[in-house]
Amino acid sequence: MSKIHAVITGIGGYVPEYILNNQELSTMMDTSDEWITTRVGIKERRILKEPNTGTSYMAAKAGEELFAKTGTKAEEIDLIIMATTTPDHVFPSCASMTAEKLGIKNSLAFDIQAACAGFIVALQTAASFIESGKYKKVLVFGAEKMSAITNYNDRTTAPLFGDGAGVVLLEPTTEELGVMDSLLYTDGIGAKHLILRAGGSAQPASNESVNSPDHYIYQEGQAVFKHAVTNMANSSGDIMDKNGLKGEDIAWLIPHQANLRIIDAVVNRTGVDYDKVVINIDHFGNTSAASIPLGMWEVQQKFKKGDNIILTAFGAGFNWGAMWLRWGY
Ligand code: UT7
Repeated sequence: MSKIHAVITGIGGYVPEYILNNQELSTMMDTSDEWITTRVGIKERRILKEPNTGTSYMAAKAGEELFAKTGTKAEEIDLIIMATTTPDHVFPSCASMTAEKLGIKNSLAFDIQAACAGFIVALQTAASFIESGKYKKVLVFGAEKMSAITNYNDRTTAPLFGDGAGVVLLEPTTEELGVMDSLLYTDGIGAKHLILRAGGSAQPASNESVNSPDHYIYQEGQAVFKHAVTNMANSSGDIMDKNGLKGEDIAWLIPHQANLRIIDAVVNRTGVDYDKVVINIDHFGNTSAASIPLGMWEVQQKFKKGDNIILTAFGAGFNWGAMWLRWGY
């Protein structure tokens, strides 16, 4: 019997309407368009402003678009995996909140926490469920309301992050298409460099914590930068070497969007032409787990069946890795 692969058969996405550009940020803190553009590569980011809405609001909008485009019905979905660091609540899961909004009642739904690397971890997890033969239509989300955990009094992190949601539909195929291979890693030393300290079980919310910056992202930028450059470049290069792929074999490189200078390092290591690199950091900022599916969402019309695509990401944990896909339609 031929091996079952998990192939992407549809994409949906959503970004909030509100655009926070570098000019507006410069009126809020001591920063400039010139610094943010040259050091990071961001011009603007989307911010979810609707009151009392969280990540599941955007994820559901992305899911609705996917349903409309693919003709998929809620009752056909048998698994939802949500990569997010910004679930609506500590519990229940953002996946279950999204399922409810989409009218999905017959599905297992759970979240994955692998920070900015969450989407590739979720995609590999979903692929394994499909390869088992037991699951047939799986939604894999990368969705984040990063503005909820961003400290707009801290110029070292505030310009970096944006909100958005992307989703793919994964289905079984016996063709040599879909998720072909991945290399995924974790190193817990990352916690000292990139963490949200309060609100979990080690440091529950208290009067003291809400009066401190501990409910916001803490990042030692340079330390994270060094690990991100090395690990995204190496894991991308390694997955290509392992599978005999050269730069010219790659139709699309879709890296996590944290810093244009990190993306440059991945491009150099892989030898992929720059015009094959999907970039959205300039207009969406760092949307964490949503960056890769939003990249796919924007470029999908250009993908061709059989295209070799490399995904790579790095984030808190540290978690990182790379994935090789063959596009399915
Ligand atoms: O997404 C998952 C993981 N995250 C990442 O991969 C992010 C990795 N890190 C980075 O992308 C970069 O380290 C940052 C974009 C976060 C920072 O860029 P950098 O080139 O590493 O800057 P830096 O932290 O070394 O700061 C350089 C200078 C400092 O001033 P002094 O000490 O040299 O006088 C900062 O105070 O830039 C200053 N600075 C700013 N200046 C204007 C820091 N933030 C700003 C700002 N505007 N927003």
